[in-house]
Amino acid sequence: MEKIRIYGGHELNGHIDISGAKNAALPLMTAAILTGEPLTLNRVPDLKDVGSLCAVLNKLGVKTAYDPASKRMTLDATNITSCVAPYELVSQMRASILVLGPLLARHGEAKVSLPGGCAIGSRPVDLHIDGLAQMGAEISLEDGYINAKAPAGGLKGAQIHFAKVSVGATENLLMAATLAKGTTVLFNAAREPEIVDLGECLIAMGADIQGLGTDKITIRGVSALKGITHAVVADRIEAGTFIMAAAMTGGTLTLNHADNRHIHYLLEPLHKAGVSLTENEAEHSITVKRVRDRLRGIDVMTEPYPGFPTDLQAQLMSMLTIAEGAGMVTETIFENRFMHAPELIRMGANITVHGSSALVRGVPMLKGADVMATDLRASVSLVLAGLVAKGATTVHRIYHLDRGYENIVEKLSGVGAKLERLKEEAA
Ligand code: EPZ
Repeated sequence: MEKIRIYGGHELNGHIDISGAKNAALPLMTAAILTGEPLTLNRVPDLKDVGSLCAVLNKLGVKTAYDPASKRMTLDATNITSCVAPYELVSQMRASILVLGPLLARHGEAKVSLPGGCAIGSRPVDLHIDGLAQMGAEISLEDGYINAKAPAGGLKGAQIHFAKVSVGATENLLMAATLAKGTTVLFNAAREPEIVDLGECLIAMGADIQGLGTDKITIRGVSALKGITHAVVADRIEAGTFIMAAAMTGGTLTLNHADNRHIHYLLEPLHKAGVSLTENEAEHSITVKRVRDRLRGIDVMTEPYPGFPTDLQAQLMSMLTIAEGAGMVTETIFENRFMHAPELIRMGANITVHGSSALVRGVPMLKGADVMATDLRASVSLVLAGLVAKGATTVHRIYHLDRGYENIVEKLSGVGAKLERLKEEAA
């Protein structure tokens, strides 16, 4: 196990290159199952979750090759040799559920372990299962597995109304519908940029899709999809994380290869907090600079895109701990996504949690401490707090962090932060 030690009090100045989005790369990788031709993906981030999904795909017979230097991944699903995504792999990475729709569409059957819950919530997959059943799949749940079989002639187009906005369910059904017989309409679909990126890749592969980025997506099934090359969209959550880091530490930070269209929801709240964001369309970059001596507290509620993303909630809470005044953070997507709060309190933050809301009263300074990462975004919120805390902060269990942030120690050190990765001493 490893830990990160951060020595607080250093401004961030300079440039950071934003990586391809984890939450786009994962569904794009499962889309390879939909075609017998090789799919090449560029800008695939070198992350633990990407490696975990490769292991699941390899188990199905998909050949994968990834070069961490060029960030290029090729996937070849010419021969699907198994339709089983086993518990020991799916439990490592719940987004493995995204092989379900493509397997049913291309291969006609699938046996995928139920992903189970995780630290931030129960995270059921009922919307995925109900939608596929509406497309004619026979689905049974046995011994913790989803056993699914497409009808003899293949999945059929259907009108699917999602009871809740779900990123994963939208992606699974979007992919399944590309090869279904007839037309599928997804109502109350999720609108995240990662779904648009997946859809654009599917269209380039020959799929017939309208309505990407809206809450109604229409897919006309086609007989086959072809292999292409696609570049993964920039990671808006990584960009938002570094924007908040610079807002906290002060300094002037430019993020290269960001996709500014996808962080507009940050402009208004961060402006209110006293942060300026200057976009440079030509260079696909965005420059962040705090324009007040001290940030101001703001109230934020997480919502599906284009609202404020739940994946930036922990980072925002960190930012509010040292703001002037108070801010209310309300989490509407997941039922247990405040686990960073007790750890921030150990660093001297003043946070009161009531159900799905947390009131953060700003304090002049945080104090470095030993803290524990509990989930991906909570981990990075503790790193952000360490960047501004007095003294040294050690974040333990940083395997959570490595799931979703590529080279974060190097990226932050490169713009003036003082931090290092260390081995955990034997207990
Ligand atoms: C995706 O998870 C992201 N993961 C999450 O990012 C992100 O937080 C989430 O979308 C919301 O934006 C990937 O893209 C790999 P949902 P997903 O289905 O698809 C409930 C990160 O930190 N729900 O949109 O699992 C669910 O419990 C991760 O990068 C059902 O009830 O999220 C949740 O309350 C964390 N039934 C809400 O919907 C279902 O069948 C939204 O979940 C599916 C979901």
